[in-house]
Amino acid sequence: MKKVRVVGLGPGNLDYLLPIAKRVIEESEILIGGSRHLEALSINNKEKILLDGNYKKVMEFLEYNYSKYDIAVVVSGDTGFYSLSSMVKKYVPIDNLEFIPGISSLQYMFSKLCLTWDKALMKSVHGRKFDYIDCIDKYSYIGLLTDKVSTPVSIAEELIKYGYSDDIIFHVGERLSYEDELITSCSPLQASKGDFDPLSVVIIENKGYKGE
Ligand SMILES: C[S@@+](CC[C@H](N)C(=O)[O-])C[C@H]1O[C@@H](n2cnc3c(N)ncnc32)[C@H](O)[C@@H]1O
Repeated sequence: MKKVRVVGLGPGNLDYLLPIAKRVIEESEILIGGSRHLEALSINNKEKILLDGNYKKVMEFLEYNYSKYDIAVVVSGDTGFYSLSSMVKKYVPIDNLEFIPGISSLQYMFSKLCLTWDKALMKSVHGRKFDYIDCIDKYSYIGLLTDKVSTPVSIAEELIKYGYSDDIIFHVGERLSYEDELITSCSPLQASKGDFDPLSVVIIENKGYKGE
């Protein structure tokens, strides 16, 4: 049976791509993904569809073609964490669908800081709103995916505005896993004066958290 496989690529560097993901991509007939990912994979022997804000068109393509071709839809990080998977699921029947997991950018960031994420709140402000201020006192760590609007700087400014400065370590991971990766751990005040790459995640560490 032909399948649409949504494949998590991990944070970006192909060293973090799972062997099964590599195999599924190689065996697919059609590859769909954003330019950052299609370029990194540098696969030239198959039809490629660039994801570039054309989501509706691409979803209709999947709806019409899921039973005709083996299709790999590559996404950043993990398929289960704020990815295109949920949209694909609306257009492809479950029997023709498979998710291949990857390492999330936030999961990678926790590892780089030698921190565990089992008690962290992992959320996103990428293209959406989330009231992280309301959660700071309830967690030791809040991991956030960011975007060009909700940037590390704007998040740091919000923390300062609501009086969260002293007990907070503000971690920013830019271009994680790439050669120019940069990880900064500083105060919200220092972060509010920073200039960070649009491809960034944030971890708010609350040293004052008194819970478990
Ligand atoms: C649409 S979300 C996808 C998240 C993905 N499913 C995951 O598990 O990481 C895209 C956001 O993930 C984060 N991200 C993905 N790759 C990254 C990387 N290599 N370095 C820093 N942040 C990254 C950024 O916050 C980016 O805006």
